[in-house]
Amino acid sequence: MENGKNVGRDVADMMERVRARNRATGRTPGVYVITFGCQQNEADGEKLRGMAEQMGYSPVERPEEADLILLNTCAVREHAELRALSIIGTCKHLREKNPGLIVGVCGCMTARGSRVEQLRRGYPYVSFTLEPSALHRLPEVLLSVMEQHKRRFLLGEEAEEIPEGLPVRRTHRHRAYVSIMYGCNNFCTYCIVPYVRGRERSRGSAAIVDEVRALVADGCKDITLLGQNVNSYRSDCDFAELMDRICRLPGDFLLRFMTSHPKDVSDRLIAVMAAHPERVAPHFHLPLQSGSDRILSAMNRKYTAKGYLGTVERLRRAMPDIALTTDVIVGFPGESEADFAATCDVLRRVGYDMVYSFLYSPREGTPAANMENPLTEAERSARFSRLLACANEMAAASNRKYEGCAVRVLVDGVSKNDSRLYSGRTAAGKLVHFAAAPSDVGEFRTVRILRADSYVLHGELVQQKP
Ligand code: SAH
Ligand code: SF4
Ligand code: F3S
Repeated sequence: MENGKNVGRDVADMMERVRARNRATGRTPGVYVITFGCQQNEADGEKLRGMAEQMGYSPVERPEEADLILLNTCAVREHAELRALSIIGTCKHLREKNPGLIVGVCGCMTARGSRVEQLRRGYPYVSFTLEPSALHRLPEVLLSVMEQHKRRFLLGEEAEEIPEGLPVRRTHRHRAYVSIMYGCNNFCTYCIVPYVRGRERSRGSAAIVDEVRALVADGCKDITLLGQNVNSYRSDCDFAELMDRICRLPGDFLLRFMTSHPKDVSDRLIAVMAAHPERVAPHFHLPLQSGSDRILSAMNRKYTAKGYLGTVERLRRAMPDIALTTDVIVGFPGESEADFAATCDVLRRVGYDMVYSFLYSPREGTPAANMENPLTEAERSARFSRLLACANEMAAASNRKYEGCAVRVLVDGVSKNDSRLYSGRTAAGKLVHFAAAPSDVGEFRTVRILRADSYVLHGELVQQKP
């Protein structure tokens, strides 16, 4: 279903009104945006920042300096919600110090009625909530909070349309996320996402291609197409065709996509990837969740272990060096030792570059939350540790292959772990640390890998001939 509406003018009017109010105060107010969760939420966070800046706010480094705090929450596991709630709790004393502070809670947690109620009753300093499908209503809600001094809790009011043309403040100039579809129709039995993000809606292909073209013209070198099930994209064309059209755009940039559902990896998509090796990053994130058919069926994943391995084979036949990464859930209700062993078996057979493992977290309102789960906490965490050990071993093995090789790296900036080094990513998505200079940031550079750890490659810049 194609479903796009340019809300530019309505939103622009509202933004101008907030901006005028802010200007009238004679000072530039600060905005602090904090995002939890997946890349889709990151992309939403960039839009929240973009709108805030257009409304006259200037980004600040610390929440203490802010006049507007936006918390962009995730609800996928309980831990994510509890973390967000605890950070929201710290806004209490900020508000006491600065009575003019406006605290807005956005993101997936605010699409859950029970959490909205909790915020309304227990967190009086939260001025508004804004669920993901109402993102574009930030200016309107903010204006009403400012003008009427009333709290607003938007829930379930949204028409399922996609607003086009919202301002965006990208975190990096050289890297960008482009959301191409929203929502999910799959209802995996453990997952809250279909409830908080609604049904699948895809943007029109022309708007996407135009956005990518503009990003490339602006110097962007690494572009990730985003969707909860990005390869289920369907509007006036399907995902494979959309990829093909983007691949044909001129410029030096890498194209990525996240997250794919194994049921929708078409031969056509594989063929498009293989036909554009310079353009499409040689990486496929293919969430397995479990290697046991019994559990996969209880999860409603719509594939078997054999079918999944068949897809891996199709990918590797077309692209022998493709990096594969995956998500696995440990301790799904009723998971037996044999089910867990089946998962480990598939992991070893595939030999992933990276495994993201999660302890099952029951989500209220999902079918799995009502399933019997006789596993004890100790059993679950023992399995989790075993899985982590297996994942670390695999990551180390896949990284070791890079030792001594020269790889092309897009330089991101100073490393978060070591301020003396810079970090970047290879086309396959591997994290690399090396010494570099500010002028290397945002550029493709060649790095020779000297040493490989499980989760980072250490290397040195290869001097380019002038
Ligand atoms: N749409 C994507 C990502 C969904 S959320 C997909 O289908 O893969 C990201 C990951 O969180 C999932 O792949 C899954 O491994 C994990 N996850 C989702 N719900 C969970 C839950 N209730 N408990 C633990 N992990 C969960
Ligand atoms: Fe959740 Fe499944 Fe949809 Fe992914 S495909 S978002 S795991 S329901
Ligand atoms: Fe979390 Fe929402 Fe993403 S629940 S994982 S932020 S879609």
